[in-house]
Amino acid sequence: MKFTLITGASSGIGLELSRECARLGRNVLMVSLPGEDLCEKADVIAEDSGVITDAIEIDLTDHKAPEQIHSWVVKNNYQVDFLINNAGFGGAGVFAEHSANYVKSMIDLNVRATTLMQQQFIPDLIRNKPSFLMNTASIMAGVSAPYKAMYSATKTYVKNLTIALSYELETEGVSVSVLLPGATPTNPVVTDQIKKGNFAARVSVMSPSEVARIGIAKALIGKRVITTGFKNSLVLGLINIIPRAIVAQIAVNQHHKTNK
Ligand SMILES: NC(=O)c1ccc[n+]([C@@H]2O[C@H](COP(=O)([O-])OP(=O)(O)OC[C@H]3O[C@@H](n4cnc5c(N)ncnc54)[C@H](OP(=O)(O)O)[C@@H]3O)[C@@H](O)[C@H]2O)c1
Repeated sequence: MKFTLITGASSGIGLELSRECARLGRNVLMVSLPGEDLCEKADVIAEDSGVITDAIEIDLTDHKAPEQIHSWVVKNNYQVDFLINNAGFGGAGVFAEHSANYVKSMIDLNVRATTLMQQQFIPDLIRNKPSFLMNTASIMAGVSAPYKAMYSATKTYVKNLTIALSYELETEGVSVSVLLPGATPTNPVVTDQIKKGNFAARVSVMSPSEVARIGIAKALIGKRVITTGFKNSLVLGLINIIPRAIVAQIAVNQHHKTNK
């Protein structure tokens, strides 16, 4: 039986991606950290939509996690035909003041786990074609953002890797997409950042359910780069044409404004 596997599925955009897939009749496998009632959330989605759900609670920063998730899928004879690498975290601050643990965790989750999940599951996606792969990056992917240096760099990696893979896999029956959400009020840290954020972030804000609806719909029609809505497309267009030094200065001003 075919399944969509979604990481970071216990809350925010990932929970809404899970609900949206289920609403469309897709069976869902949910992955997130232990201790967030993930199994109960999976059960509720199954009851509400009539699809089959299952869940695995695991820390994706653990280097063995992608392999363990793959073993769990194989053991249960689930056939994954849609992989969504959504787990990730952001944050702002002075790079030199980040703890080693913060830096390592962000690379381990946003970069390492996202990469290794694909390395584990792409053979399955090819076997189960036609299939889909979507990675959540950010509207910040491609921007060199001072004071969000780690976040923008990790999301740039995700965007570039995804677009490259989309060409490698287009003859293999796997449609590959990168999702570029703008400001989306999910956890308290992000919600606070949006409140204190610049005009562009505040006007283009979109709910997690709307991001998920657009993301899934566009991934399933094979859109390579997915922006969420007109305002975010406009912001992205501006980011691409404004000189890098000006974009960087906007980020610097933003940091000073929020840290006065
Ligand atoms: N919100 C935004 O404005 C925004 C904008 C652009 C891009 N994004 C991207 O969208 C994605 C989802 O963000 P969100 O705002 O929805 O975040 P969120 O509400 O904080 O949810 C993050 C999800 O990832 C899971 N997770 C965190 N660390 C994990 C780990 N080590 N191992 C396994 N699962 C882990 C969390 O699980 P627990 O609940 O168990 O902790 C949760 O399910 C991220 O990649 C983020 O960078 C967000």
